[in-house]
Amino acid sequence: MWKSVEKAEVREGLQRAVKARDKNERQMGVEGGRRELRQGPLGNDWMVWSYASAMPATRQSIEQETARVRAVQDKQAPKYDRQISFFERILFGDGRAWVCSQAHGQVLELACGTARNLPHYPADVELTGIELSTEMLTIARKRAQELGHPADLRLGDVQALEFPDGSFDTVTCTLGFCTIPDTTTAAREAFRVLRPGGRLLMLEHVRSPAPIVRAGQRLLEPLAVRFEADHLLREPLDYLPGVGFEIDEMKRSKWGIVERLRAHKPG
Ligand SMILES: C[S@@+](CC[C@H](N)C(=O)[O-])C[C@H]1O[C@@H](n2cnc3c(N)ncnc32)[C@H](O)[C@@H]1O
Repeated sequence: MWKSVEKAEVREGLQRAVKARDKNERQMGVEGGRRELRQGPLGNDWMVWSYASAMPATRQSIEQETARVRAVQDKQAPKYDRQISFFERILFGDGRAWVCSQAHGQVLELACGTARNLPHYPADVELTGIELSTEMLTIARKRAQELGHPADLRLGDVQALEFPDGSFDTVTCTLGFCTIPDTTTAAREAFRVLRPGGRLLMLEHVRSPAPIVRAGQRLLEPLAVRFEADHLLREPLDYLPGVGFEIDEMKRSKWGIVERLRAHKPG
């Protein structure tokens, strides 16, 4: 059962995000710049405006974390399809189809893993996938070959995309932002490579708004991050509006743990 998230809830989510990021940065001893909430230009969206300062120490730790994530995912790769198919059955339902069926034109899939989304895209999209782990990518390419899918699947880091500004009509990501070390940088890159009016489509597991479920997630978080590089307490509203995305649709299910989101780059 999917529940639409009301505008007020989106706004509350953004306010919580601003506070959480401020607290995080105070704990890291980092100066984060000015942030506030404002009503969007159409009067119906709320955005976080943030001006993060250059943070060389943080950049170094992101690089280290990216190397760690790559190693964890290389190790995970042979087991990934089996493990995720279980969670697809109990949590994600038709989420992959929901994301991919709305993609059109030139499509970039971030953190494509073993390319499980391939069968769900319309036949006429021109798909490029980016993946950090060579082991995941090997499985992805094998899948594409077996399916006869012409996708261009490349090794890369979605925190530093190799594409010029405005190269894609659609950016998709399923279950990737929970693992990408620097979500804000990856979101900024997704925004940059989208054409004005271009669409972002996501399926994610996120922190639940239900206190009891969130408490459970908080307990599991250190183990999930350590062994699977998987963050359970993230939420796209923490990083999408701040880089310029306008949220068009957001639905949660499964005690608020699973989120589907459609956003666009204004213009
Ligand atoms: C949980 S898996 C999801 C895979 C796939 N998107 C799916 O829906 O099955 C997370 C993936 O994100 C990839 N990833 C994490 N950080 C990345 C980065 N900076 N650039 C590219 N891929 C990244 C990991 O290597 C891993 O394959």
